[in-house]
Amino acid sequence: MENAFDLFERHINPGLAGLLRFTGLDRIEDRAEGVYVWDTEGRRYLDFLGLYGTLNLGHRHPRVVEAVKRQLDRMPMSVRVLVPEPTARLAARLAELTPEGLSMVFFGNSGAEAVEAAFKLARIYTGKPGIVTTEGGFHGKTLGALSLTPKPEYQRPVEPLVPGVKVVPYGDAAAVAEAIDDRTAAVIVEPIQGEGGVRVPPDGYLRELRRITAERGVLLIVDEVQTGLGRTGRFWGLDWEGIAPDLLTTAKALGGGVMPIGAVIGRPELFAVFKTNPLVHSSTFGGNPLAAAAALAAIEVTLEEDLPARAKELGDYLLAGLRDLAGAWPAFVAEVRGRGLMVGVEFTDPDIGALVIGELAERGVLTAFGLNNPKVVRLEPPLIVEKAHIDTVLQAFEDALKATARALEGIV
Ligand SMILES: Cc1ncc(COP(=O)(O)O)c(C=O)c1O
Repeated sequence: MENAFDLFERHINPGLAGLLRFTGLDRIEDRAEGVYVWDTEGRRYLDFLGLYGTLNLGHRHPRVVEAVKRQLDRMPMSVRVLVPEPTARLAARLAELTPEGLSMVFFGNSGAEAVEAAFKLARIYTGKPGIVTTEGGFHGKTLGALSLTPKPEYQRPVEPLVPGVKVVPYGDAAAVAEAIDDRTAAVIVEPIQGEGGVRVPPDGYLRELRRITAERGVLLIVDEVQTGLGRTGRFWGLDWEGIAPDLLTTAKALGGGVMPIGAVIGRPELFAVFKTNPLVHSSTFGGNPLAAAAALAAIEVTLEEDLPARAKELGDYLLAGLRDLAGAWPAFVAEVRGRGLMVGVEFTDPDIGALVIGELAERGVLTAFGLNNPKVVRLEPPLIVEKAHIDTVLQAFEDALKATARALEGIV
């Protein structure tokens, strides 16, 4: 039987296969549990990437697996012409857990679909086409979401994009105020940019955006796809600033690391169109009972185990350890930053970052680049990680930096 890596390379993505090979990850995954993944040759890895912020509960959290199994044996898919119970209960739970005033939910299957829905709802409600987005922002790769994701390598090959999008620097509220005009429907922003390289905005940024958008009669969409469900040390990333947006998008960790699901939660006025045009936006699989059961369990585990507080405490520990380490490597590491267990290490050169990722993999630690910022290696371990795992990774990081230095000495 042909090797699955070769099949992937031939039939799915030769370029990505090449990149994986370069970082020594030309391997095939086999199984996973908690913070660990094993490949088919029995090698064990500590998963400090966590599927880009999806695996807040680790792999195969038993309560999520159990909830999904129960729903699987009962009714995994909705017929859609009857009402699915887990989906309705999940919507009500999300309305409880999001800031006051957000009470209506649309379900999709991914972050991009949540953003697409938010984009459409904003246009429908305001009757205006314009959206302001941020440099380095990442909102997905379907055509609408991609139009809000200003990276030339992804946008250029498919132009023309959805029109009406303006791009402003991240963290600069005054630039948003300047970009808003009488054609602007909404501003979309991440509380911390994930793919942009774990960029934490100045304190007060979201509050200022809320003030400006409210004053100018423009909607504020906060994209919590990567920051949500405890990742940054609070349940939502926006909880650090205590604001209520008009629309909030979530996905990734919402499915408990077991099922894909995405949602946009918003003020009821923004969903009024569904009263007269109930199928103006819909999805066959969005919020299916299996995914909704996973999400309901994931939310309860996150709250009962107080994972946001754990993310804060362990994130502070990881950040402090990495900063300590970075101090000894000024030629390699430009900055260590983050909040909670959303941590980025910015290298002085993307090639150094790539070598370090490879050396970490060699030592059984999985990490990756930010998609919009190849200088930054991000660490987004499960929130159930323990201090001992972090100590192992800090040691591996130090060894990886030393090995990279040795490799570079050999080249220059
Ligand atoms: C903030 C943000 N929004 C949207 C997306 C797109 O999510 P998906 O890959 O599930 O479509 C991502 C994915 O990384 C993200 O980080």
